[in-house]
This record gives sequence, structure tokens and C-alpha cells, in this order.
Amino acid sequence: MKKVLVLNGSPTPKGNTVALIEAFVKGAAEAGNLVNRCDIRSMNIHPCVGCLGGGKDFDSPCCQKDDMDIIYRYFREADIIVFASPLYWWTFTAQLKTVIDRLFAVMEGTTDDGTPAYQVNLTPKKLMMIVPAEEDHDANFQLLHQYYEGYIQRMGWEDAGRLVVGGMLGHKEHQGKPEAIEAAYIMGRGIK
Ligand SMILES: Cc1cc2nc3c(=O)[nH]c(=O)nc-3n(C[C@H](O)[C@H](O)[C@H](O)COP(=O)(O)O)c2cc1C
Repeated sequence: MKKVLVLNGSPTPKGNTVALIEAFVKGAAEAGNLVNRCDIRSMNIHPCVGCLGGGKDFDSPCCQKDDMDIIYRYFREADIIVFASPLYWWTFTAQLKTVIDRLFAVMEGTTDDGTPAYQVNLTPKKLMMIVPAEEDHDANFQLLHQYYEGYIQRMGWEDAGRLVVGGMLGHKEHQGKPEAIEAAYIMGRGIK
């Protein structure tokens, strides 16, 4: 059983990203995993202010007090993180990037016994991504893959799978792409 945290960066409540996430979560749950899904659009999460002053409270490491405290807890416990977002200007949405920036705070400060917080919080994790997009060609996804691979490398994590699907501009286009929904389900089902 793995603990999975899905960070949903789509601003669309019932669009392509959510359809793929739902299939993924169904598969992951059927395989016996515990999945927490955070819909960033409906959470109260503010952009990082760059104060470099976090880490004073291990459970609430950021200076800003908002719904990131929910994500910090899930993040710390998770074996697998899923970046789920529509492709916006060849990368993740601002909603997801806001959460990624705010995760900086888990690297700051120490635990009660003086252990650097990053040693506790940044235990090796696996990363996955689920990204629908309009265009369907390699150049469209080049920057996305570069960022994703760089992130994994810098964090010392492992790539556990990517689902990047072009041909979805309208928010209901997932309905004409059963193969993409099936791929998302299989991706979740494969988590052991
Ligand atoms: C601001 C914005 C930027 C976008 N940038 C891209 C892009 O760079 N490449 C692409 O193929 N699609 C792009 N799209 C299309 C979305 O990725 C596509 O509509 C996606 O399926 C929407 O997912 P959703 O239904 O979860 O919102 C963009 C859409 C918006 C609104």
C-alpha cells in the first residue's frame, strides 16, 4: 500500500485533468493504495512571498498560514506525488506552481531534536505527472519534460510514470478519448 498525493492544478472543476485524475484514483484505490487529492483551485493558497523565514513550526513550516498546512501533512506522508495539470504555456499551471513554490518551507528549519527538516521531509519519493493539452506533438511537451526531469533529478526522486495527452482543447474532449482515460486508470492500478 502506497500513500499517494495528487496535486490537481487545473482551474476547471469537471474538465480533462479531473477526468484523468478520477480514472487514475479509481485504479490506484482498487490496487489498495491510499490516495489524497487536493484541488488547488478551491483551496486557500497564496503565492510564496520569498521571506526565507519558514521552518519555525514543523507542522506548519511556512510563515503564511493557509491551506498549505493540509498539503504539508499529506506531502510529508506521501510515497508518491502526482503533478496533475493542464499544459499552460508549455508547463504546469500557476496553481500547481504556487504549491510547488510553497513546498520550499518544508526544507527550512529543524525538528524538535535539531534534525534538519529537509532530512525528514525530503525522504525519497516517486513522482508522476498527468497533463492534458491541446496540441499533440513533441515540441509542445519539451519544456514540460525538461522541468519534470530536472525536478526529479534535483530532488533525488524517481520517475514513476507520465501521462501527457494532446488533442484535448475543449474541457469535454476527454469524452472522446477513452484510451487516455484507460491509460490513467492503468497508471493508477499499477501502483503497488
Ligand atoms: C492559459 C492557457 C494556456 C494554454 N497553453 C497550452 C499550451 O502551451 N499547449 C497546449 O497544447 N495547450 C495549451 N492550452 C490548452 C489546455 O492545456 C487544454 O485546454 C487542457 O485540456 C485543459 O484542461 P482542463 O479541462 O483540465 O482545464 C492552454 C490553455 C490555456 C487556458
